[in-house]
Amino acid sequence: MKKIIIANWKMNPASEKEAERLARQIDGEIPRGVEVVIAPPFPFLSPLNQVMKKAKLGAQDVFWENPSAGGGAYTGEVSSSQLKSLGVKYVIVGHSERRALGETENQVNKKVIAVLTAGLKVILCVGEPPAVRRRGLAAAKRFVKQQLSKNLYGIKSYLLNTNRLIVTYEPIWAISSVSGGKSDTPEDAVRMIQFIKRVLKARVKPEAGILYGGSVDAKNAEGFLKHDEIGGALVGGASLKQLEFRKIVRIASKF
Ligand code: 13P
Repeated sequence: MKKIIIANWKMNPASEKEAERLARQIDGEIPRGVEVVIAPPFPFLSPLNQVMKKAKLGAQDVFWENPSAGGGAYTGEVSSSQLKSLGVKYVIVGHSERRALGETENQVNKKVIAVLTAGLKVILCVGEPPAVRRRGLAAAKRFVKQQLSKNLYGIKSYLLNTNRLIVTYEPIWAISSVSGGKSDTPEDAVRMIQFIKRVLKARVKPEAGILYGGSVDAKNAEGFLKHDEIGGALVGGASLKQLEFRKIVRIASKF
């Protein structure tokens, strides 16, 4: 299976012009054998769709309601069908930075359903905070298992078994803005990913792809991506540096 490398630009860059330039640079050099997704801020989705030929378009969030015409009284929100109409193929849901702003497990659950129902791929982010990890890997596993069970609660098997659910293990303590660039070890990430696969096995067929996120950069990417269990990476800070990101993409294309 092709590795998936997702650029989560978060609230960057500052202007549409810069976003287009960065997207062109990344898109211009995507080798075969790797899937690259760029997830810019909402206002840049449409312009990027015009400039990208190989990279797929991703959104960083979505609203759970998907009302029919005239029913969209949700100021500031964006629906899955609106995203789809802009060419979006992947939607990140449950990123820890959104959860930190108050997003609940139940809201994440509703968003996952909305994305799958719209026929888009969902990148569901799970991962434990620093305080949980300090209690050890077993505590982290319990935390992640609970997140998965709440976030996938009640989802019908015809939606789950579509090959459109991609889970990303992104431990909060390893995200560069929290950790200062210190990632998880590939060995522990693999252990957690094997655990997530076991948790999902009964419900998701064929197997969901599981990615790793948290301070992935050009230096450590190979250590993660060489493992068959790790289906790719969700990259934050390093995805804004075109040379560094292109290097990660090249590394991913080798496996
Ligand atoms: P960093 O790669 O900057 O640690 O960010 C990870 C992340 O939050 C991607 O979603």
